[in-house]
Amino acid sequence: MTEEWPDRLVLVGAGKMGGAMAAGWLDGGLSPSSLTILEPNPSEDIARLAASRGVALNPADPAPPDVLALAIKPQALDAVAPGIAALAGARTLVLSILAGKTIANLEARLPHARAFVRAMPNTPAAIGRGVTAAWASPEATAGQKRWTARLLGAVGAFHWLDDEAAIDAVTAISGSGPAYVFALTEALAAAAESLGLPAELAMSLARGTVEGAGELMRREAETPPSILRRNVTSPGGTTAAALAVLQGEGGLDALMARAAAAARARAAEMAG
Ligand SMILES: NC(=O)c1ccc[n+]([C@@H]2O[C@H](COP(=O)([O-])OP(=O)(O)OC[C@H]3O[C@@H](n4cnc5c(N)ncnc54)[C@H](OP(=O)(O)O)[C@@H]3O)[C@@H](O)[C@H]2O)c1
Repeated sequence: MTEEWPDRLVLVGAGKMGGAMAAGWLDGGLSPSSLTILEPNPSEDIARLAASRGVALNPADPAPPDVLALAIKPQALDAVAPGIAALAGARTLVLSILAGKTIANLEARLPHARAFVRAMPNTPAAIGRGVTAAWASPEATAGQKRWTARLLGAVGAFHWLDDEAAIDAVTAISGSGPAYVFALTEALAAAAESLGLPAELAMSLARGTVEGAGELMRREAETPPSILRRNVTSPGGTTAAALAVLQGEGGLDALMARAAAAARARAAEMAG
């Protein structure tokens, strides 16, 4: 066992996010014998993963682990917490990805634990291409923070935050962001149809363009998006004509800022 992986890790909730994280951890080198999954209705994938890799699934009375990872739905926390409170011991790091649940919310329900991490992943974590940002309570040790970086980095890029409130901004950008990109794809396809292209071709052009531009941005990681944009914008050309609209008064920048502000306000409201 390398120092960065916890010796004992219990995952509570192996749905979309929890299941993706468990798969990422095992692929990344976590020893299967270190992992226990608690999931009342395991999917076929989770049952198969547990059986084939030798991961404990729903054992009776697991002991408090080094890391208790919570990936249930936020609204299930009140019902689930009493059953797992004994697992959150004084030396256990509680690692939560529950949207809207603050460290104070978690502390109130898991009173024996002292160290908490609150993280916000996004759905591309399911393909190992997520973006996650997290905040650790001051009680989290350097070793617990290394575990966190290893666990959350196993499903994509990972960033630490300096304060818990920044989680709401992260939720508004990367947490909800994949939906903005899907909406952009829909809008591009609708625009194609309004220019007279058939629906199937319109969607195919829009999807392919977003996928290709995303992949190009990934491969050209050293080149800022503004330069990539300029590289395809000849002065006085077609792209310039469109960008004059998109980046004009009340255009994409203002619209995106308003959308993100609305998402952040909603995240703050939901966190109460
Ligand atoms: N999806 C995202 O983009 C995203 C992004 C950031 C954060 N998150 C957070 O990730 C968390 C999980 O989201 P998700 O989309 O993965 O939800 P999900 O697919 O519904 O997964 C939650 C899992 O927890 C299980 N569960 C319910 N009660 C349990 C219990 N007593 N003990 C153990 N497991 C239990 C659920 O089982 P049942 O289905 O039988 O109830 C389900 O399999 C949420 O808190 C969400 O806020 C999600």
